Amino acid sequence: MSIQTLLVLSLFFVASYASVNDFCVADLSQSDTPSGYPCKDQKKLTEKDFVYSGLGVAGNTSNLIKAAVTPAFTAQFPAVNGLGLSLARLDLAAGGVIPMHTHPGGSEVLVVISGTICAGFISSANTVYFKTLNKGDIMVFPQGLLHFQINSGKGQAFAYVSFSSPSPGLQITDFALFANDLPTELVAATTFLDAATIKKLKGVLGGTN
Ligand SMILES: *[C@@H]1O[C@H](CO)[C@@H](O)[C@H](O)[C@H]1NC(C)=O
Repeated sequence: MSIQTLLVLSLFFVASYASVNDFCVADLSQSDTPSGYPCKDQKKLTEKDFVYSGLGVAGNTSNLIKAAVTPAFTAQFPAVNGLGLSLARLDLAAGGVIPMHTHPGGSEVLVVISGTICAGFISSANTVYFKTLNKGDIMVFPQGLLHFQINSGKGQAFAYVSFSSPSPGLQITDFALFANDLPTELVAATTFLDAATIKKLKGVLGGTN
């Protein structure tokens, strides 16, 4: 085999390999796997598959937490499948709070677009890092750590957050503890809270037992 033939063959290999692995827009009709969703048929993709307009609209903050998280994770924006990143929009009305929560699957970086947000996280050594953030400030929240955002200004606050995963997940601690059917005595035994407080929180958050 001549050196020219080898070169052509290897270029062909590189070209075909690259085109197969450029992206993997999720086929949401199939099941998610630990390495992401299977790919949608590449021949059926158009530019629309790579664009998502869902973050242009403020989320509805008429709720208990006076805040809304609008995600552009794989489920909403299948193009991020396999790319190791995703975005979400946070809207916080006056008095709004994104309660203590974690993203088991990814680290987060937040950028304040408008308003004033007091944000913080708790390390696994239980050290707290929190700061009042203004327009243009960014803050990171390392993967898996408990964190929160509070609108500490007088008006609305608005931020974008980006994640180091297409499916970072979201577990809100109060919902995990009080919005399900785990018996009150087990919640009491494992949190050291009194039963009356647990019943009250279950009532507010929709838990039973
Ligand atoms: C926002 O949510 C509230 C409570 O669910 C609902 O009553 C209201 O109609 C919603 N507003 C909009 C603009 O969707």
